[in-house]
Amino acid sequence: MSRIAYVAGQYLPHRQAAVHIEDRGFQFADGVYEVIAVVGGHLVDEALHIERLHRSLNELRIVPPIGDAALKIVIRETIRRNAVDTGIVYLQVTRGAAPREHAFPKSAKPTLVVTARRTKPPDPRLGEEGIAVITIPDIRWQRCDIKSVALVANVLGKQQAREASAYEAWQVDREGRITEGTSTNAWIVTMDDTVVTRAADTAILNGVTRLAVFDIIDREGYRLVERPFTVAEAKAAREAFLSSTTADLLPVVRIDGAPVGEGRPGRLTLKLRAAYFAHTAAA
Ligand code: PDD
Repeated sequence: MSRIAYVAGQYLPHRQAAVHIEDRGFQFADGVYEVIAVVGGHLVDEALHIERLHRSLNELRIVPPIGDAALKIVIRETIRRNAVDTGIVYLQVTRGAAPREHAFPKSAKPTLVVTARRTKPPDPRLGEEGIAVITIPDIRWQRCDIKSVALVANVLGKQQAREASAYEAWQVDREGRITEGTSTNAWIVTMDDTVVTRAADTAILNGVTRLAVFDIIDREGYRLVERPFTVAEAKAAREAFLSSTTADLLPVVRIDGAPVGEGRPGRLTLKLRAAYFAHTAAA
């Protein structure tokens, strides 16, 4: 089946779907995005993604190109036209196309692109055996709370992970504390069974999956502390894991080649992971 993309008001075959060469997303990475999971035909935490999209747009002073009701219709229509039952929706809004000049153009219309695609179920071994991460310096800008399409530092970090046969790279700030992965949030479980993740400051993206895990922790009565943790603390932790819309929740069993805990997925991590799957299945 041929794929269809929504581009600035039109549903087009993928091959013909394009934005202008002077779109500011292309020239300046002057735009924001969201990735929403579709499970069993339903959107997972759509409201939280739309809320975060608004926050990102607001921080960049980009006016939403269409209202929320229309956006929700476009998302559903794109899912329908691509026959996505399980997969992802990608939304991108840029400041629009205009002659290249750094300052905001006077009259550009923001560009909205929506795509949807089916995804294969993730390799079950990732959850059963856990994954490896490496640590790298965080070379990104100081507003990582904005879901900006300026992802080149993340791209370089993920590639470095791949070349080290790791799933993800955990980025480390100047104080030696882990901020987050290149496309995932970072978590540890301490020896006294406290779940620890960095507070949503400007150094990390406030993941929607992160918020769903908070709800689970709260509901199940586990202990949570939002604070930064160092690489040394992560390596000495009982358990570690990462979270995102596309990775779900994955146990981290090696950091820079050294085992975390017993080098196997942690007990609490697996409980949270199962509860997270129940959450997405109920969407
Ligand atoms: N990435 N941190 C970063 C830097 C991210 O890019 C993402 C998401 C997350 C997790 O956020 P959420 O739980 O809302 O997916 C954390 C998406 C999936 C991506 O870029 O493909």
